[in-house]
Amino acid sequence: MDRLKNKVAIVFGAGPNIGGTIAHFLAREGASVCVSDVKAEAAEETVAFIRGEGWEAMSVVGNARIDADVKRIVDATVEQYGRLDIVVNMAGRVHWDDVLGMQTDDWDDSVASFATAGLLATQHGARAMLACGAHGSIIHIMSTAAHFGEADGASYCAAKAGLLNFARSAAMDLAHHGIRVNTVTPCSMEHQLWTTMRDEMFDPAWQQPARRGFYSRQEYLDQLPLRRFPRAADLAWATVFLASDESSCMTGSDMAVDAGLRHKYPTWTPGKHDPLAINDYARATRVTRYGVEQELLTELLGQPVERS
Ligand SMILES: NC(=O)c1ccc[n+]([C@@H]2O[C@H](COP(=O)([O-])OP(=O)(O)OC[C@H]3O[C@@H](n4cnc5c(N)ncnc54)[C@H](O)[C@@H]3O)[C@@H](O)[C@H]2O)c1
Repeated sequence: MDRLKNKVAIVFGAGPNIGGTIAHFLAREGASVCVSDVKAEAAEETVAFIRGEGWEAMSVVGNARIDADVKRIVDATVEQYGRLDIVVNMAGRVHWDDVLGMQTDDWDDSVASFATAGLLATQHGARAMLACGAHGSIIHIMSTAAHFGEADGASYCAAKAGLLNFARSAAMDLAHHGIRVNTVTPCSMEHQLWTTMRDEMFDPAWQQPARRGFYSRQEYLDQLPLRRFPRAADLAWATVFLASDESSCMTGSDMAVDAGLRHKYPTWTPGKHDPLAINDYARATRVTRYGVEQELLTELLGQPVERS
């Protein structure tokens, strides 16, 4: 539990899903954590949870794509905790649209939120690490969208792919300062499953939306070699490793936390050989929040669920 003892971290985009879980796990390993989000209630909820568990955290509200906000968040962290060792960034907004119908405002919003937030978090974070003599670690949360083309996903894919290669370049720029930059790539997450599959699971008349980029949860599960979706905790463990001195010889690398999706032969469908119905998967699994198991399945899905 002391893998990050005496270290100080900032998490940008730290609402209760992936960012909040990462903030919780960093704090549980001994780091003092600044939880930052554009939404005050999201940051405060995460800080309340972490403090409730007995760990150290503070919240600073700000927009990760605005230079002055990011500088203020970094300055406030150093003022409160005296140094900076770890920056984790995942802030951004997704716009789904076909290339032919793409609005430039939506394009700018997607690219500026993910890629510009990545630059600012790295830049201000690294400056603060240098000022306090820290051999720090910077981690950006990606998506399979950084590695593949996706129908209706051009702005998200471009933003994440830009962020991925930015991170590799930043790793080269900062290596001689002893500052490492790595990335973690999840595929579609289990909490996303809970928020999108209600109708699909329970409404017999449910039909797939006409959007070309849409795939059902069953179709997605069928592609996953490990036959499970990643949880926020799976990403948080990878992030703790990259934040800690255990990964001190790693920089510019990308860790796939995607149940094997990115490394499978594209035309092989694991679900054909190892069938698993999405409803059975859903009934057998446990919802987690901040990495802690919940009994919230009924509440989340809006109706009673018989466990398998
Ligand atoms: N959920 C998934 O299935 C999935 C899959 C692959 C990758 N990801 C990536 O993981 C990251 C987190 O995903 P999540 O599911 O926890 O999303 P989420 O929407 O629950 O959390 C994102 C948080 O970032 C905050 N945020 C957005 N724009 C911001 C800004 N400009 N400044 C500061 N905060 C901002 C939001 O308020 C929110 O709290 C994202 O980068 C996302 O692209 C998610």
